[in-house]
Amino acid sequence: MASTVKTPAAKKPRKPRAAKARKIAVVSTTPAEQSNAALLARREAAVPRGVASAAPVFAERAENAELWDVEGKRYIDFAGGIAVLNTGHRHPSVVAAAKAQEDKYTHTSFQVVPYEPYVALAEKLNALAPGDHAKKSLLVTTGAEAVENAVKIARAATGRPGVIAFTGGYHGRTLLTLGMTGKISPYKKDVGPFPSDIFRAPFPSVRDGITVEDALTGLRNLFLTDAQPDRVAAIIIEPVLGEGGYTPVPFEMMQALRQICDEHGILLIADEIQAGFGRTGTWFAIEHSGVVPDLITVAKSMAGGYPIAGVIGRADIMDAMAPGGLGGTYGGNPVACAAALAAIEAIESEGLLARSLEMGETFRARFAEIGARVAPYRMWDIRGLGAMLAVEFVTDFETATPDAALVKSICAHALKRGLILLACGMHGNALRIMVPLTASDEIIAEGIAIFEAALADAVAEQTA
Ligand SMILES: Cc1ncc(COP(=O)(O)O)c(C=O)c1O
Repeated sequence: MASTVKTPAAKKPRKPRAAKARKIAVVSTTPAEQSNAALLARREAAVPRGVASAAPVFAERAENAELWDVEGKRYIDFAGGIAVLNTGHRHPSVVAAAKAQEDKYTHTSFQVVPYEPYVALAEKLNALAPGDHAKKSLLVTTGAEAVENAVKIARAATGRPGVIAFTGGYHGRTLLTLGMTGKISPYKKDVGPFPSDIFRAPFPSVRDGITVEDALTGLRNLFLTDAQPDRVAAIIIEPVLGEGGYTPVPFEMMQALRQICDEHGILLIADEIQAGFGRTGTWFAIEHSGVVPDLITVAKSMAGGYPIAGVIGRADIMDAMAPGGLGGTYGGNPVACAAALAAIEAIESEGLLARSLEMGETFRARFAEIGARVAPYRMWDIRGLGAMLAVEFVTDFETATPDAALVKSICAHALKRGLILLACGMHGNALRIMVPLTASDEIIAEGIAIFEAALADAVAEQTA
């Protein structure tokens, strides 16, 4: 959970674990038209600027927690394709399962001719999700689509229109999910109006002095001012804010939300798209709080790099919509289902839940020590659950003014030195860790050393 960092943690560096070899041959052939600069120019001419990329380099190949660009430069990947690669790039069994499925059939549309991998994945998700009740799962293609469908299902099941989301929450870029996403720039800027009957409640924030009690008071006031509780279908929350800054929902808040939902007949939706599948050390981040949600949205690391998402929920709720009301041409693509089953199996057989907790401790200890030594009083917070971890930077400790410029500079220096890092947070002043849980201790240590050097570069540049 959240902690403020003034002094180095008194932890000894961990002994590196032997790397699991996943060797690939790296061939550096860079014809002029394949250089990063040439591709960037083509990209700028052909792709709208609204699709921003964090790194101005182009991928050539990747393996586990490493990536090589088209010029043969190697990077350690702490971004994992935005939390998609808990099992790493091209996990051998994920790739093998996808290839085996491709040799049978790649698409029938489940709504035309169904296939077993969809059913097998739904069974697996139903078994993994918290709660003893009967469950069913819908498969779709993207996270935003999963969230949209969770709202549709909640509305159909309750006969109510309202949805309550939270400040700083991120639920996608489609118009309904943008209405739920609680951050204007860059996501919502200039594209409203957004669908009606979406309400926003405050998220607890140490930075803004909003306690759990304040946040709950805000929610109760919302019931008095704008959101008639018996017209609210669902409350949706990320158990750990993703884009919003890797801030865990305090467990007592999650427990209170469950109570409030039960009191008013509102469904609780846990958006686990970024936090799920081992990132926090449990299958679903909400498990840390002991709360059982009614619906769960999933995507990203569920399939180790293949586009698939889903909604898992109480069977009676999931059956609320009539036949034909759910689906989509590509929903639950068989290749992606096969990949997801293999990724889930890898998380189980390789002990990646425990690995996440262990990795989280390593990052916390090293970041605290590096922050205190290399950038004293600039690292304001290290927070998260397991290996879903962020460090937040400020201009100075007293005012705690967010320093997004420093974070941007750290990312740029890290990239130059061979580390892919990504920012997050309402103020863009936090760095988040999404490194594959399959990364060896050596790779983690190397990545952290690059982070340390990049931080020193960025601080030196700022003070020059
Ligand atoms: C918590 C959460 N919900 C929803 C989404 C949207 O997923 P997608 O980008 O696949 O549409 C994301 C994506 O980052 C997310 O982190």
